[in-house]
Amino acid sequence: MYSNFVTSLDGRIALPRTDQNTRGVPPAIGSARDWRLYQELAAQSDLLITSARYFRQFAGGEAQDHLPVGPGDAFADLRQWRLDQGFSAQPDVAIFSASLDIPVEALQAYSERQLHVLTGAQADPQRIEALRSAGISVHIAGDNNKVDGARAIAVLQGLGYRHIYAVAGPSVFHTLVRAGVLQRLYLTMAHRILGGKDFDTLAWGAELDPAPVMKLHTLFYDAYAPDDAGQLLACYDIEPAAV
Ligand SMILES: NC(=O)c1ccc[n+]([C@@H]2O[C@H](COP(=O)([O-])OP(=O)(O)OC[C@H]3O[C@@H](n4cnc5c(N)ncnc54)[C@H](OP(=O)(O)O)[C@@H]3O)[C@@H](O)[C@H]2O)c1
Repeated sequence: MYSNFVTSLDGRIALPRTDQNTRGVPPAIGSARDWRLYQELAAQSDLLITSARYFRQFAGGEAQDHLPVGPGDAFADLRQWRLDQGFSAQPDVAIFSASLDIPVEALQAYSERQLHVLTGAQADPQRIEALRSAGISVHIAGDNNKVDGARAIAVLQGLGYRHIYAVAGPSVFHTLVRAGVLQRLYLTMAHRILGGKDFDTLAWGAELDPAPVMKLHTLFYDAYAPDDAGQLLACYDIEPAAV
């Protein structure tokens, strides 16, 4: 399973936005080239892992975009590629949530995909029932109210998913890294420094000890984006933790 992020040189992946209530990827580090990478990675997946936060943002009109693979001519080749390879038209979606505060109306935009919610054993039973009544599969993958990364991936693999792409943010990423189930990270480092005191960075959660070793697999220097600042497109394989 794999994930990807775009980050500034000072490690910011999201900042507050003046016109919105939620944080988002700053335009200074985003680019059409990195967006294309995101779409290409999604095109090769049979399942996207995202967070309940994404659907709350979506319901509030503040999500960055629809989940990939994107519509329109720009990504028509990727959608066709999926069909040529025998993939479904779009990857299915798994949502990590402890609160189960997931607006059902936001899920309707993805009614053509299989939707799975993963949560912990202590999650609110009424919310589980409400989601199941709306036709959403809910899976228990943790002992408290949180999802355990290893149990989540075991559940998803048991459902037949093999190419799993995590597109959520820092706490889902931390959950997967800590469990030792993340195999590859695609990291775009935009050559910009953003500063700020209120920001999201790559991983959020308890200190990782031992710190996972990231083996550089490939590195590409793109001199042109974003806005001629340049960026490094790195791909890392994660070494299994020594036990
Ligand atoms: N620059 C980039 O490449 C990039 C990539 C991705 C995201 N982002 C940005 O990062 C920011 C944060 O994104 P995010 O909120 O989706 O990130 P996140 O921190 O991974 O997800 C937060 C939510 O996911 C659920 N969650 C996470 N780990 C869980 C676990 N182990 N068990 C149960 N539920 C869990 C929780 O939902 P509940 O509250 O419902 O319990 C939590 O509130 C956003 O502004 C986004 O735009 C940037």
